[in-house]
Formats: sequence, C-alpha cells, structure tokens
Amino acid sequence: MGTLIQPHGGQLVNRLADADAAKALADQAASLPRITLSAKQACDLEMIAIGAFSPLTGFATQADFQGICKSMHLAGGAVWPIPITLAVDDAVKATLAEGGRAALHHADGTLLAVIDIQEIYPHDKKLEIPNVFGTEDEAHPGVKQVIDEGDWLVGGPIDVITVTPAKDLGEQFTEYRLPPAKTRDAFTQRGWSTVSAFQTRNPIHRAHEYLCKCAQEITDGLLIHPLVGETKQGDIPADVRMACYHALIKEYFVDERTMLTVMPAAMRYAGPREAVQHALTRQNYGISHFIVGRDHAGVGDYYGSYDAQNIFDELADGEIAVEILKFEHAAYSKKAQGMVSGKTFPKLDGDQIFLSGTKVRELLLAGERPPVEFSRPEVADILIKWAQSS
Ligand code: ADX
Repeated sequence: MGTLIQPHGGQLVNRLADADAAKALADQAASLPRITLSAKQACDLEMIAIGAFSPLTGFATQADFQGICKSMHLAGGAVWPIPITLAVDDAVKATLAEGGRAALHHADGTLLAVIDIQEIYPHDKKLEIPNVFGTEDEAHPGVKQVIDEGDWLVGGPIDVITVTPAKDLGEQFTEYRLPPAKTRDAFTQRGWSTVSAFQTRNPIHRAHEYLCKCAQEITDGLLIHPLVGETKQGDIPADVRMACYHALIKEYFVDERTMLTVMPAAMRYAGPREAVQHALTRQNYGISHFIVGRDHAGVGDYYGSYDAQNIFDELADGEIAVEILKFEHAAYSKKAQGMVSGKTFPKLDGDQIFLSGTKVRELLLAGERPPVEFSRPEVADILIKWAQSS
C-alpha cells in the first residue's frame, strides 16, 4: 500500500490545546481583552486549529497578508490564495496591544481561544478585495463581507480551547466532523492511498454525481466533503444537504469506496482563488486528487466557467502536490442516454437537459420532482419537503 500525500507545507498543524493547557488558557483569558468573532472568523479559527489550514498557525500577519493578496504566497514561500484575517473595529483595536494577548469568543459568548498579538495593522481592503475576488462589486457576497469588516487586522498564532461550542454551526454533524488527522487515519484503515475529494455547497445532482463517479474510477476512494461552515443567504442549509448526501450514497454509491465527512470552512465565493484554497485544504485532509468543475466556488457571473481551473496553471511545477481533476460542464444527453460533457459527446441542439437554479426552485416549491436526468428522486423528495416547509 502506498503512503498518503504530505500536508501542504510538510506538517499538519495542531493548535488545539490539551486539557491542562486549555484550563490554563481559560484562566488567563478571564483577564484579557476580548474579541468576539464573526461567523466567518469562527470557521477560520476551527480550520486553523485542526490543521486544515496547515501551514497556518494563526491569523495573518502583515507580510503574509500582502504576499497572499499580491502574489498568492505566504511570506515563507508557500502558496496561499486567500488571507485568513482577524479584522476588528476601532473600539476593539483600542483595547489591544502588540506583544499582548486577547481572548477570542464565539458570538454566543463561549471562550474559544487565545491569540498572541504579533501585529495590529490597517486592513488594506483596497489591496485585498480586487486581488482575492477579481471584482470590487459590493453585490458580490464575499466582497461585501470584507467591506463590512473592521478596519484593523490582528495577526498572530492562536491556541484553541474548543472548536465545537455553537448551536448554529459547531455542534452540527459531530460524527462527520473529522479533522485532517482523522480523515488520514480513516483512509489508511480503508487501505486507500489515492483519494479524490468532491467539494460542494449544494445537494448532489446528476452532474455532480457524474464527476464523483469519474473520480472513483481512477482513485482508491472518494471523499464527499461538503462545506458546512458559513454560507450566504439563499444557499441550502447544511442539514438539508446532509440528508440528501446520505440518501444518495445509500442508493447510488459503493460503501467501501465512498466516505462522507464535512469541512467546517466558511465560503468566500472567490471562484479561482477559492478553488486553490479548497485544493490545498483538501491536501491537508489527505486528498491526492481534487475535483474542480465548472465555475467552482463562483457566484453570479463574476468568473469565467473555467477560471477556477486555469488558475492552477499559474502555479509553478510542484508548488502544490494535490492533483486537480478538471471537469467540463456536464449534463444528461438524451441521445447518449447518459451524462456527457463537451469532452465526451458532440454538442447537439436541445440534446442536453439543463435546468436553471430558479427553475429547480419553482419545481420543488410546487412539490414536483425535477426530471430524473437532473436529480435522483430520493434527493428531490428531501428537497421538496424542505422547500415546502421553509
Ligand atoms: S461550489 O461552490 O462548491 O463549487 P457546487 O456545490 O455547485 O458549488 O459545485 C461543486 C463542484 O461541482 C465544483 O467543483 C463545481 O465546479 C462542480 N460542478 C457543479 N455543477 C457542474 C456541472 N454541471 N458540470 C461540471 N462541474 C460542475
């Protein structure tokens, strides 16, 4: 049996304190200035703590922030596409000092971590927004989020006491919330050395399923790895999606070749740069082959259909170890009677079954299943129930 891929940067980070250290941190935290994290920041904290963001050990310092924004690299040289920042406003900034520490709390009041404040520096949104998102349009949800954040960034390593405090995100899917060290163990136990991963923030429709199946043909196993951290309004809630994944896997996937765990990251909708982040993160989870299809992590029409694939060509050879499985737009072809893409079947007028998101929502609300060529009935039924009750 071969060995699993190395983590990005060589070593898995672990910033979760053991029980004794956590107790000492909690005692200290009582007298420290307090920063209440946004939902995005709480997700980022968890990703750092569990090593999913290796080699990051904390929130970005200025040299990293600038290197990431300008050229997609950390100051130390490793590829990193999106700055993981701790933004605070003027009032909070006034309570903090470089060289000091601060207690990081969840919005529900739970103490999560302590940060060693290496730097406090101006949040250069003019540098971050166009470079990360490729647009400055406030209608873009990721852009809007950064615009609304505080004007100061706090950089430094974190020591984390707990990552599963919150009713809204943290306590969900505990059984499926495997950190990278645990997914790696699970792959090894299953005898897998090559593993593909499918990132998604949607229910799995036939096109998604097709991508997964293609990947399964070439790797030992497949990790269906939905993102369950913060997503934008209008996205389908993670618990509904999880029900869909279970129903689909039960009927249409081979158990011994398929795993389902969740990734507690927040979506940025940053298209190409987020695709790189998703790939690096999955490498940390032990993934050797990462699926990037059409308009990966995109929103609206800010990105070209294959921008999120082409960005990988800008990286130097060997800069990331995970292999990118690039898929063209896939859909069901009536003539071929199966899933096809522009790579595998000629384009014929009216041949492919394509449904817009709006059309699908209309059908579900009316209690109608989308065609089986678009969505498996077991998945459609769960979505109908949810659409009609929400
Ligand atoms: S994403 O924000 O997580 O990228 P989504 O869950 O819709 O959104 O997509 C998951 C993955 O499937 C992404 O890699 C995306 O590019 C790919 N994808 C979605 N629909 C298609 C399709 N019809 N053809 C090819 N790839 C697709």
